[in-house]
Order: sequence, then structure tokens, then C-alpha cells
Amino acid sequence: MKLKKSMEYLKKAERLIPACTQTLSKGPTQFVQGVCPVYIQRGKGSHVWDVDGNEYIDYTMALGPVTLGYAYPGTAKAVEKQLKEGITFTLPHPLEIKLAEILIDIIPCAEMVRFGKNGSDVTSAAVRLARAYTGREKIVCCGYHGWQDWFIATTTRDMGIPESTKKLTLTFEYNKIETLEKIFSENKNEIAAVIMEPVSTIEPEKGFLEDVKKITKENGAVLIFDEIVTGFRISLGGAQEYFNVTPDMACFGKGMANGMPLSTIVGKREIMKKLNDVFFSFTFGGETTSIAAAISTINEMKKKNAIKHFWKQGKKIKEGYNKLAKKHGMEKYTECIGLPPRTVIKFKDEKGNDSLEMKSLFQQECAEHGILFTGAHNICLSHSDSDIEKTIEVYDKCLQTLKSAIEKNNIKKMLKGNVVKPVFRKI
Ligand SMILES: Cc1ncc(COP(=O)(O)O)c(C=O)c1O
Repeated sequence: MKLKKSMEYLKKAERLIPACTQTLSKGPTQFVQGVCPVYIQRGKGSHVWDVDGNEYIDYTMALGPVTLGYAYPGTAKAVEKQLKEGITFTLPHPLEIKLAEILIDIIPCAEMVRFGKNGSDVTSAAVRLARAYTGREKIVCCGYHGWQDWFIATTTRDMGIPESTKKLTLTFEYNKIETLEKIFSENKNEIAAVIMEPVSTIEPEKGFLEDVKKITKENGAVLIFDEIVTGFRISLGGAQEYFNVTPDMACFGKGMANGMPLSTIVGKREIMKKLNDVFFSFTFGGETTSIAAAISTINEMKKKNAIKHFWKQGKKIKEGYNKLAKKHGMEKYTECIGLPPRTVIKFKDEKGNDSLEMKSLFQQECAEHGILFTGAHNICLSHSDSDIEKTIEVYDKCLQTLKSAIEKNNIKKMLKGNVVKPVFRKI
């Protein structure tokens, strides 16, 4: 497999672009260098081609946004049509209203809607709005919410964030309601909002989301579901529809426009209407090609029952992988977890700690067999039965190699490049 051009671009980027990427999870630290591609040239459906012409089945799908497929004809048509009429204007465009109506129809908590570009735009808007609505400053979060100060303050990558900001964001543990109760009891009348991913790779225990909603309400705070990942994936109306727990506000992004940059904050009218005064405004908020892409994407998802496809194909991957892990006697080291539309393969060493070495070797073997692997499967409408069959065959080989490397205690020796790094260090 040739990677000559990828390596040439990387060399140039090292001089020109800090971190060599615009998105840390797509950068060179996330892939075994010298074995995995660094630059993608194009995609079609569920497949991508790197700049050296190597073809891969992709499961990361640009970290989730590509729900129908790369270069999907319907999206391209909707964007092209809008491009011919203009991209962004001096006044709002009727498409904003059309998409708002669609979202209000499908998302349980949506009574009013505003748009952003990245997920971070709308999670930040939701936090500011909750602060304005409650007159309180502290935020409680659970999950990942974007690159802004109030959230990154809680991570190990908190350089450049004022201490005063760090004090305002507290975190609680998923499925441990007592950790949220403790925060509320120690910060009486100070919490503006609880913002959380309603589900990640671990499912909520019975009553957990309901309890979060109850406690948040009792304490006069606003409940925000961060559905940037779960939206347009677990169910069209998000995890709130799937689990039947309606928050006060919710944030969507990623999957809503098949890769075009669009996000949305939706919620109860009583809170959302405060955005008449709270500042949330930027030049590209109503950019029409992305809105046109979202309308076309949502219509196509409804027409083709994309959600059913995500669950069906995702289940095959999850069950197929876990069956292979068992066959190779590797269940103790690796498992595919999460709800089928988005699963993650975990690797654990003898002591039960996350193993980036194992992940790296698995990724290396996948790349050599035509699968671009980052750990996650974000299933899209274009993932076909033959994609899944080939993937399971490749995973079988990769697990065999990993098993033999573990037995010989030579994972590092078998790696042809660096071990991948976490974006956030473990504390
Ligand atoms: C759950 C969640 N919330 C918010 C964000 C931030 O979205 P963006 O990177 O588009 O700003 C992400 C991004 O990965 C996410 O996974």
C-alpha cells in the first residue's frame, strides 16, 4: 500500500498547520503513521479514497455527520440547486422556516428553533440561554460538549481557560444519580443548567434519565440534552424520543445535513423566546446550502427509513464482532459496545485499562485490509450488506493477529508506526 502523497502533505502541514488538522480527532495522532492514510481525496457512499488512491470502507463517517453517504446524490442536488440561487443573504431566507417546521414536527422538545454551524455553537447558546433564563451561573455537565471555555475547563486540555471560568462548570457521572444530587445539594440555587449526552456507549439504567429530569426541575435548573451525536441517528427525534424523556432544550448537529455544516438549538418556547434578547448571532447562521441539505437529508432519512438501516447494519457489526472476539478467546481484551447505530470497539489490557497499543495494532491491520478504523462505527444509509460482510472478514483476521501479538507479548514490535494518542489525557 502506497502512502507517499499522504506523507508529503503531512510534512508540509507540520510547518503550516498547528496539530496538522482542523479537528483533533481527525489528526495524525489518531492514526498509526506510515500505515494509515493522513489525507483523504474523495468519498462515495460508505467508501473513501486517500490521496494515494487507496480505497477504504469508512465507519467514522467524518465523526458522525455523514448519515446518508459521501457525495450522496440527493444532498448534492439540494446543495447545487441552492448554490445557483445564492448561498447567504442580507435578509433571512424562507428555508429557515421550512426547516424549523420540520424539526418542530420530529423533535419532542422543539417548540422554537435556531441554527448554528458547529455543535459547539449551539451547546454554548444553550448554556448562555440557561444562565440568562435562571439568573444563575454554574453549569453541570456529563459527556463531551465542544471546544468552548465552559466545557473544556473540565478536561485535561484546559490551557488558556481562566480559573474563574473553571469554577463554574461541574461534572457528574453517568448512571450515578447520587453524583448529581450531591452537586445540587452543595450548590443550592446556583445551578443554571444540567447539560448531558442522554446516552453514549453505556445505556441509561432504568429511571436514570427520568431522575435527572426530576432533580433538575426540582432545583429550578434547565435540562439540556446534547444530542449532537444521538440526533438523527438513534431515532429521528433523537435519544429524547427513543427513551421518551423530554428535556427543556436540546442541541443537534453532526448528522442533520449529511456533512454540510449545520447545528440547531431547539426547546420550549418559554425559554427559547429569551433568544430575542440573549446574544446568539453570527454571519453564517442562516447559510442556505446547509439548510437545503438538512431538509433534503431529513426527507431522505424518512423516505428510506434510514434509522432502521442504522440499527440493522449496526447490530450485524456489533454482534459479528463480539462473536469473533469470543471465537478467538479475546472477550477479556475487546468488546464492541453501544447502541447499534453508533458502536465503539474497546480494547483493554490485562489490568483492564484502555489499551491504545492494541487499538493501534488493530487499526494498522484494518488499514492494510481496506478499512479505515478509529474505533467507532457511525453507520450510514450507504453501508451495504457486502460492506458489513467484508468488514467482519477483516475483523476476523485483525483479531487473529492481535491475539497472536498478545500471546507473544510483542504488540509494540508489530506496530509499523506510532501508538495512537488520546485527544484528552486520562487523569
Ligand atoms: C456530544 C457532542 N456534543 C458537542 C460536540 C461539539 O460539536 P462540534 O465539534 O461540531 O462543535 C460534539 C463533537 O464531537 C459531541 O460529540
